[in-house]
Amino acid sequence: MNYVCSDRGTEHCPCHLMEAGQCYTCTMVKEGCCSCEDRAGWQGTCPYSEYLQQGSLHRMNPWDRPAAFRILSKTSYAPDLAVIRVEASHGFAEQCRRTGTYMMAEAFGCRTPLSVLRCGPDFLEFLVKNAGVKTGYLMEAAEQEGIWYMTGPYYNGLPGSESMKDMPELIIARGVAAAPLIHMLEGAEATNYCVSYLDDEGLPALFVQEYLEGTPYERVSLRDEETQQYLRRLIQKHAEEGRLVLLLVSPYYAELFCRDLSDAQRTLVIRPNPANLCCAMGLCGSCSHTDEDGVTVKLCKCSRTVIK
Ligand code: FES
Repeated sequence: MNYVCSDRGTEHCPCHLMEAGQCYTCTMVKEGCCSCEDRAGWQGTCPYSEYLQQGSLHRMNPWDRPAAFRILSKTSYAPDLAVIRVEASHGFAEQCRRTGTYMMAEAFGCRTPLSVLRCGPDFLEFLVKNAGVKTGYLMEAAEQEGIWYMTGPYYNGLPGSESMKDMPELIIARGVAAAPLIHMLEGAEATNYCVSYLDDEGLPALFVQEYLEGTPYERVSLRDEETQQYLRRLIQKHAEEGRLVLLLVSPYYAELFCRDLSDAQRTLVIRPNPANLCCAMGLCGSCSHTDEDGVTVKLCKCSRTVIK
């Protein structure tokens, strides 16, 4: 199995993993021979050359250190659900437009990954569901301190989404996992996508009205077994025809829908990063995954696998 790194060739590359000799896409640092063009494909640059040009150091990025973001508003849609708007420069908001962008927000010493919900000219919005201690702290910090400390942007919230040239023809979303869809719709023509299904359980009507008005979608309940079977067949058909599918659902439903797909077909299904993300920089290891060959990759960076 070969791996594609979401950060390779970007302003995040070369990272700490290269400096530690653990970059899993660079064979130069591990085996002494370059395979930029034949293993996981050319990604626009040779990370090892970049590394040498940097003086054998990882790239230092200001966004890897927590920066203060002023909270502009907190709009509650339910007792446990709110949209937090933070101030951001125009340039920074532009950097967050990429599909799958997320930030790590820090409150009371805990870090939580948050998908970007919307980018304005001078603000960013995040949808926060108070589902545990960390998100509770974030809500508290927004109210009491008026500031969030955040690092990012990071781009691997939807691994594989960089291969999307357009909106996928089939989109299935559920609850707060639909946040990246709202982010994507900002820059998309409504005619660019064909079928989308939304299970809006957990999304208050006012939120749906404000954020999804004018978006054509069919309302479904993923708890319904017949709906599950119908969608599984539809996903299978799309994958067999080589068409991309976007699943913005919890890991439980994503696994349920992909159960019958082959490894090759699974590569056509883009779904939220299932890893426990804690630093998003390849450092903490909370997202580590070891494959059957004993290769360990950090899922905060690994965007897809290439089956050879
Ligand atoms: S989240 Fe820390 S290494 Fe991936």
